[in-house]
Amino acid sequence: MRTKMIATVLILAAGMATAQARSSIWDGVYSDAQADRGRTSYMQNCSRCHGASLMGTYEIPPLVGRIMPYYAGSGLDALFDYISTAMPLDHPGALSPATNADIVAYILKSNDLPSGSKELTAAGTKAISFDAAKPRAKKK
Ligand code: HEC
Repeated sequence: MRTKMIATVLILAAGMATAQARSSIWDGVYSDAQADRGRTSYMQNCSRCHGASLMGTYEIPPLVGRIMPYYAGSGLDALFDYISTAMPLDHPGALSPATNADIVAYILKSNDLPSGSKELTAAGTKAISFDAAKPRAKKK
């Protein structure tokens, strides 16, 4: 009887862990300090094409606004992996995973997504879903 109860508790705990593993870009997945670092790296490596205010140009896509519906429905790793492998366009893959994570943090901040206490990591982007709109609060 006791063993069965413990087993049930373990199963419940495991279920909760899985449910919590996937978070959303709305959950405060980067820190302000990280976004500040990302801003510096963005200005050095990206702004000459995408613009100082991330608005892009006629030929270069903006990294604010339209990027939300464009990446919606995938994981944050889709954006991270694209930047890591395809950008900067004239020097693809030149930046380190940590720098790219900082830049993604800056892009999230520029799209008015909330910051939090933890830093975004390259590996962590997989478990974060890119929701175009804030998901409805889950019942506690
Ligand atoms: C030399 C110019 C140039 C530089 C520098 C550059 N990009 Fe780009 N970027 C482009 C162009 C052009 C595209 C469109 C590519 C395409 O459609 O195939 C693009 C596309 C993108 C996209 C996809 C956006 C979308 O909506 O499709 C992202 C994200 C992006 N760049 C991020 C960055 C980041 C972050 C940096 C800095 C690390 C950077 N880019 C540096 C020119 C540049």
